[in-house]
Amino acid sequence: MSLFNIAPVTVDDYRRIAQRRLPKFLFDYIDGGANREEILARNCGDFSQLQLKQRVLRDVGSIDTATTLFGRSMAMPVALAPVGMAGLFRRRGETQAARAAERCGIPFATSTVGVCPVDEVAASVAEPIWFQLYMLRDRDFVLEMLERARNAGVDTLLFTVDLPVPGMRQRDFRNGMIGGGTAGKISKLAQILSSPRWIYDVGLRGKPHTFGNVASKVENPKDLDLYKSFIDGQFDPTVTWSDIAWLRQQWHGKLIIKGVMESDDALAAIDCGAEGIVVSNHGGRQLDGIASPIAKLPGVARAVNRQCSIMLDSGVRNGIDVVKALACGADAVLLGRPWVYAMAAGGEQGVVDLLEMINKEVEIAMALMGVNRIDEITGELLDSDLW
Ligand SMILES: Cc1cc2nc3c(=O)[nH]c(=O)nc-3n(C[C@H](O)[C@H](O)[C@H](O)COP(=O)(O)O)c2cc1C
Repeated sequence: MSLFNIAPVTVDDYRRIAQRRLPKFLFDYIDGGANREEILARNCGDFSQLQLKQRVLRDVGSIDTATTLFGRSMAMPVALAPVGMAGLFRRRGETQAARAAERCGIPFATSTVGVCPVDEVAASVAEPIWFQLYMLRDRDFVLEMLERARNAGVDTLLFTVDLPVPGMRQRDFRNGMIGGGTAGKISKLAQILSSPRWIYDVGLRGKPHTFGNVASKVENPKDLDLYKSFIDGQFDPTVTWSDIAWLRQQWHGKLIIKGVMESDDALAAIDCGAEGIVVSNHGGRQLDGIASPIAKLPGVARAVNRQCSIMLDSGVRNGIDVVKALACGADAVLLGRPWVYAMAAGGEQGVVDLLEMINKEVEIAMALMGVNRIDEITGELLDSDLW
């Protein structure tokens, strides 16, 4: 932002501020995608291809963005997606984001690989948070994590299925975020030293820098290389739908399968007893060269035919995108990078400001499309036959 730009307004504004505050390897870890990052661009680009209908003279004097998901009311059809290591982007980042979400009346999902453990995040707010789970080879440890989440009051589990192995994020190798040996360590140190505000906020005041939920499993939880070895050794690539059936027996709260892109996978999730799915390609961080979730959503929604709730993420950047996702068949969306940029830029208040902006954009879009309630946003309001 320059002297003449007073306040961040868009996700891009927050992104630029985040870029200035964070060490390069951390910014690129957030910002980057898989391989040539084609899908990263397509996730957002496909939203721009969609057009909505402007409707006039329909009495839009009682606009309400509230909705209900899994029996819980939300101020708008938006939740904060699970993001690993958020506590490295701002001091105790997961707790700041959870508080921001609560202030705005929406759910927050904390990651298996968050810096703050699930109980710390849950204790920072009054409403139950969501917990995101990756399947680890050590099933006893998975059960321990579920128990910990349950004891922390978590009622909704997001089980992520699109990471049997980590995607090839080239920026992470280039910057020495992963591997790089001694040269990588020196490079990371140089990047940290050129980020004084980050050193003060996260480096000095954000301790402990561990992976809260899995700290007992990582030899030195501060060492990113050992953390990478933990992921390589513990993330279970042999997981199949029968493991979801096992998980369903272990978890009696709401179960959401995150990372579904195809209709038959969505139906398999329903068969396993999931109450919801997230149509997602992990924000373009896993497989490059695939379709965007927004392009897949109408087909998946038709196949699901209201048998479970549908969320969408990957590429949502403003309130208009939220409305487009609802018109394509989603019940709600998740935001990933947008909240992380806003938090890195402005902490809890940054996330609140971003969410208020998105809420305002949804309200204005609803008024200009002639609807007062979220459930009035249907495919009728799409002016495209693109999908
Ligand atoms: C830095 C970063 C870390 C992430 N970590 C996780 C994670 O730990 N678990 C998970 O299920 N998804 C994770 N995701 C994916 C998000 O939950 C979400 O699917 C994705 O960010 C949505 O796309 P968007 O960033 O375009 O909004 C991560 C995404 C980013 C950007």
